[in-house]
Amino acid sequence: MRALETQPSAELGCLKYLTNPHYCVKLTKSSMFWDPNLYDTKHSFVWERGAELIDLLAPAAGERILDLGCGTGHLTAKIAAFDSETIGIDSSPAMIAEASRNYPALHFEVADARDFWFDRPFDAIFSNAALHWITEPERVVESVHEALKPGGRFVAEFGGKGNVQALVQAFYDSLQLLGRASTEVKNPWYFPGIAEYSSLLESHGFEVVFATLFDRPTPLDQGQEGMRNWITMFAGAFCAAIPPERRDAFVRRVEQLLQPSLFRDGGWYVDYRRLRIVARKI
Ligand SMILES: C[S@@+](CC[C@H](N)C(=O)[O-])C[C@H]1O[C@@H](n2cnc3c(N)ncnc32)[C@H](O)[C@@H]1O
Repeated sequence: MRALETQPSAELGCLKYLTNPHYCVKLTKSSMFWDPNLYDTKHSFVWERGAELIDLLAPAAGERILDLGCGTGHLTAKIAAFDSETIGIDSSPAMIAEASRNYPALHFEVADARDFWFDRPFDAIFSNAALHWITEPERVVESVHEALKPGGRFVAEFGGKGNVQALVQAFYDSLQLLGRASTEVKNPWYFPGIAEYSSLLESHGFEVVFATLFDRPTPLDQGQEGMRNWITMFAGAFCAAIPPERRDAFVRRVEQLLQPSLFRDGGWYVDYRRLRIVARKI
């Protein structure tokens, strides 16, 4: 397959340290470090909740299936358990290293969803919780189309229109309260609605056979610490705009703003909305 441009050195800094002013953070606005340990220990709900997407995929023995943005490989392994020939790709070398450690018998590759190529086409391409991280969706859809057999299926779930809306609002409000213009941080996520994403697929040679957009308020573990951990894991683009010595104040502001709507019964909830879609290559 084609080599990936992203090298480990592109993963600058570590979000684990973003809210700690004593660490030197090398994160740039464009980079996103994925911490596989923090992901697997404190955010396993992402792939646990994604497991029912595998029912929609309905893998069959002998099928060739790609898991796009496979992260630490847990869903790749669940798909492979159907005796399908399953490959996982992800742009994060750290996540792929962890996936390979978790499941040494499986095939994982570092590759970008916007620009990947395999010499043999797939029966199906699956993706959970990855596509909203890629703000060039046309390139992903083109690559997916090219990599599928005619009639092949594309089964994906990711953040849809309105996803984490309260959080995003709190991030921008907190930036302003700390004297930063909201224009300083571009929303790093792509959260399309059904019509928008279906049109994109249809204009790239797909037929959409199923689509749903639904609320999934998701409880976080670790009680009071839950929101801080979520921000550390996923909101690096916003934290990186704040000088290290003010990041803790930023997170506390966000928590204060969200407390009335997202904190209940001693724990935090995230206002997730998911877009789930199944399309066939025409
Ligand atoms: C929240 S994790 C989900 C991982 C996995 N699918 C799961 O359900 O556990 C999002 C993943 O998307 C990957 N990702 C982000 N941008 C990507 C890109 N351009 N190409 C491939 N993977 C990407 C990240 O590296 C990360 O591992």
